[in-house]
This record gives sequence, C-alpha cells and structure tokens, in this order.
Amino acid sequence: MSEKVNFGSKIGLIAATVGSAVGLGNIWRFPAEAQANGGAAFLLVYVACVFLLGIPVMVSEFALGRGGRSDAVGVYRNLSPRRPWWLIGALAIIASYCILCFYMVVAGWTLEYLVQSVTGALFSDGSDFRAKMVECVQGSTGPLVNTYLMIGLNLVVLLGGVRKGIERLSNFLMPLLFILLVIFIVAALSLPAASDGLRYFLYPDFSKVTPKVVIDALGQAFFSLSLGMGILVTYASYYPASTRLTRTAVTVSLLDMLVAVMMGIIIFPAIMSFGLSDESLEGATLVFVTLPEVFNHMPAPQLWAILFFLLLMVAALTSTISIAEVTIAFFQDRCRMSRVKATLFAILPLLIFSTLCSLSLTPDSTLTIGGRTLFDTLDTVATNVLLPIGALGMCLYMGWGAPSSLLRNQITNDGSLHSWVLRPVGVIIRWIAPVLIALILVSQFVKF
Ligand code: PFF
Repeated sequence: MSEKVNFGSKIGLIAATVGSAVGLGNIWRFPAEAQANGGAAFLLVYVACVFLLGIPVMVSEFALGRGGRSDAVGVYRNLSPRRPWWLIGALAIIASYCILCFYMVVAGWTLEYLVQSVTGALFSDGSDFRAKMVECVQGSTGPLVNTYLMIGLNLVVLLGGVRKGIERLSNFLMPLLFILLVIFIVAALSLPAASDGLRYFLYPDFSKVTPKVVIDALGQAFFSLSLGMGILVTYASYYPASTRLTRTAVTVSLLDMLVAVMMGIIIFPAIMSFGLSDESLEGATLVFVTLPEVFNHMPAPQLWAILFFLLLMVAALTSTISIAEVTIAFFQDRCRMSRVKATLFAILPLLIFSTLCSLSLTPDSTLTIGGRTLFDTLDTVATNVLLPIGALGMCLYMGWGAPSSLLRNQITNDGSLHSWVLRPVGVIIRWIAPVLIALILVSQFVKF
C-alpha cells in the first residue's frame, strides 16, 4: 500500500472537509427543498436531522476512515478481512462516481455563467434568462467545453495531492466563500420585503411538519453532509491521530448548516421582494433564471452576478474534488498506483461519461433510460437510492459489524480523551439511523 499522507494542519483539514460538504446541495438544493416544504418548518426539521443523525453518522464515517486508514473499500478490508463488508465500500465508490459524472456537468454550467457574468454577455441582448439557461444547459458544444474545463481544473488540483492540491485550494476558497455569502446577506437584508422573507424562513408553523417534510429533510441532510458516499471516509483516512473526530464533525456540520441557512436568508427576502412564483425555485431555474432576474433589479447587476457565480463555482469545485478523491484513493491504495496514474485513471473517463450526461440533455437526444435522460437517471438513482443504501450499509457495519473497540478508540483517540458522546452515537448508529435511512429508501421506491 502506498504511504498514507495526512492533511498538514487543523484548519486545512476542516477547510477541506467543509469544502466537500458545502456544494450545490447547500446553495440551490436547500432553498428549493425549503420552499417546497413550507420554509421554516423544513428548516426546523433539517436542523434536528443534522444534530440527531447527521453528526453521529459523520463521526462514524470519520472513525471508519481514520481507523481503517485506507480508501473506501480498503477500510473494510483492513478492519474486517475475510468478510464481505467491503462491498459497501465498493457501492460507495460506484455511487460517488455516478454523482461525479453529472455533478461535473453542472459545475461546467456554473463556469459558463461566471464567464458570461465577467464578459457581460449574461445581461446583453435583453434579459430572457430562461432562453439563456436552455442554451447553456441543452446546447451540444458549449456545455461540453465548460465541463472539460472543469475536469481540467479538477485534474490540476488533484494531481497536486492531498496537501498541495486539495488542502491548499480549500484554505484559500473556503474563506472566500464565506466572505461572498456575507456580502449577499447584507444586500438581501436591505431589500424591501426582507422581513417577510425572513419570517417565512425562520418562524416555523408546526402544522406544516408532515412525514414528507421529515423524509425530505433527512435526504437533504445526507446529501449536503456528503454522507454515505465514501467521501468522508476517504478524507478522514488523511486525518492525523491527534484530530478530535467529534469536534471536527460538529464543526463541519455546523458550518455546512450555516451556509444553507445563509442561503435561505439570501433567497427568501429576494423572492418576497420581487414577487417570484414557486416555479422560479425549481431545479436549475433558481440559480440560472431567478437570481439573474433579481440581480437585474438591483444596482450593478453584473457585479452581483460575478460574485454569485464565483460563489457557486467555488462550492462546486471543492465538492467535485472530494467526490473524485474517493476513486483516486481507491486506485492508489487498492491498485497500488502512483498519485499521478490514479488521478488520470479516475479523471480521464469523465471526459466520456460526463459528455454522455451532458449530451443526454440536448433536445433530440436518444441517451435516455426508461424515458428519463441519462443525466436525470444518474442523479435520481445515485442520490435517492445508492446514497441511502451506502449510508445504511456504513451504519450497519459501524453499529454491528466493526470491531467493538473501533468507535471507542477513534472517538477517544485511543483513550486519551473522555467522551460522553460515545454512548449516544453508538445507540444512534445501531438503531435509529438504520431505521430512518430505511424509511428514506422505502419512500423513494414509493415515489418511483
Ligand atoms: N455535499 C456536497 C453538496 O451538497 O453539493 C457534494 C455532494 C456529495 C453531493 C455527495 C452529493 C452527494 F451525494
């Protein structure tokens, strides 16, 4: 096995892990889910899901990664040789790669919008943002070029390795992301209907809490915290022995939640102030149509667009590198490849798979499965089915299959820390998380 590297500093390790968690899931999926599920009611349940389930599952993933000191498959092989638990890791790698294929295409769109904002093309020839989005998403060459540029950017960072690539980039981009968010919050709070928007988002109406809201909030928490995909296992395998796993999980989850809440504080005042309809939040429309329309009503629209699409691209980039790292670590550790070879083997096939995903969105495409585009199929199957199965498998392993000392030794850093969280985390991982995740899965099949 290749020599295992570590993150170089505590801040770098947090920045990289937060960078993985904070992505398109926070910036556009969260506000859309919150809107579809009654605003503040959703936020309340979401916060509860993160504390009750998200943090304990994250601690367990960290324990698995640092205890097993390998890639998503290798951790199971190292900790429980001769048992088939490694299949859970294999599933996580496949699922994360499926996600990477379409996520990279979306990352390409964010780049296109950033470039169009900088050049001013976004606001030239009228403001039919819907037509512009169709062109950007459903075109046959433009989206491909942008996807390839994003693949290239990922390649450059990932070739740099864990410390000089991932950590260095995250140390720079994460503070930038928070600065941009603060700028947007100040602007959103000065909009005319800011208080109506905040009321909708922050004052819960308990009668709106239904089973659907709970299931959607749970699904959102897993997506947003990057759980069940081998991502956190892989990153934690780079954590030094001195890292306090519980504290790290709490910090990462709180920062991830903070970004989602900040986005709510930005989006809902904007929606209320400009009288936008519910459809304006659906899918890609929120970021590519609704927000440019909002910017167009503000002084200096081009500046706002540049700042926002920079924010979106940063969030997408730090997430794609973490998703790709799962496969790279697998090639490095399992197949004993060098960093360079492993990175090329993981990234280059994306040139084909992401191309297919992108082309499946063109109007006359035949790249469909059961009437859905390849892009949609990968998105739906990976996030709604494979992600919960991966998370369920990981919880079953950590709760029932792993050596009994693993969680204790990892949470207490081999007994040097006293930790009261051991017992509640154990109970949640054994009993509560598997039941709730199974519930998400069943509900997905019913929806299907
Ligand atoms: N957590 C990131 C996001 O919210 O966008 C990246 C991500 C990881 C997305 C895992 C989806 C996923 F299944």
